[in-house]
Amino acid sequence: MGAEDETHRLRAGSFGTVAEEYGRLRPAPCDEAVEWLVPKDRRTVLDLAAGAGTLTALLAERVPEVVAVEPDDRMRAVLAARRPDVRALRGTAESIPLTDGRVDAVVVSSAWHWFDAPRAVTEIARVLRPGGTLGVVWNGMDSSVPWVAEWQAGMRSGRPGNSGNSDARPQEQGRRFVARGERLREDIASGGPLFGEVEQATFSCVRSATPADVAALLGTYSRVILLPEEERRQLIAQAEELLRERLPEGEETLRVPFRSLCWRVTRL
Ligand SMILES: C[S@@+](CC[C@H](N)C(=O)[O-])C[C@H]1O[C@@H](n2cnc3c(N)ncnc32)[C@H](O)[C@@H]1O
Repeated sequence: MGAEDETHRLRAGSFGTVAEEYGRLRPAPCDEAVEWLVPKDRRTVLDLAAGAGTLTALLAERVPEVVAVEPDDRMRAVLAARRPDVRALRGTAESIPLTDGRVDAVVVSSAWHWFDAPRAVTEIARVLRPGGTLGVVWNGMDSSVPWVAEWQAGMRSGRPGNSGNSDARPQEQGRRFVARGERLREDIASGGPLFGEVEQATFSCVRSATPADVAALLGTYSRVILLPEEERRQLIAQAEELLRERLPEGEETLRVPFRSLCWRVTRL
């Protein structure tokens, strides 16, 4: 295995070490995004790479049956504590523990980039019934909003611990999102005539959060999870300090803009 593959493997498997924080801090995709990704008439939905169950919990409010598949035991434990009513299975996108045609929709939130895409496309097509939908979303802070961009610029301006940390740079996140979308189209096409045309939509929303929680959110991204402990701590502390400067007078929370980039495709 090459160094790049090894880093990818480590990052993909890193989330369990912060499972509790992940479940507490990572926001779900914007509500409108969830509506777009999972059409109203879907009855059985698979949340693939469900993590700590943030999206799972929202889906469980909307559809009669949600099944969650997640490889990491610690992430699945947080999910199970949060939604004991949801069937949570150990599995991966490349090996989904469900029978053929079992679900009406598959949703993948902030996880497609960890998959072995050609294998995942075939496997997702297998568990989807004809006419079923695959929805893929990446959710993140909206770097097109000026204060977010300024905060990021502050984070990059030579403060120790921040150099080279691209997960902490929403502008880069934005560029990565676009690249991921292009890649996703190629991935879906690589499976042959399994799916129809890819549709794309973007949704924005605002969530309230304290500077401490927004800063700690950075610590749930794989590059930051894998930093040496002291570097990670410094990064989060500096992020919080800069965010505190942005608090409106007399307020304890910030209004944090998020953006959900979504793709949707129908199983033929
Ligand atoms: C960034 S988290 C996203 C979790 C959740 N979907 C969310 O939006 O909060 C990525 C998740 O993908 C899982 N994962 C990594 N590789 C995977 C694979 N090959 N198949 C399925 N899940 C995988 C990780 O364990 C982790 O829980």
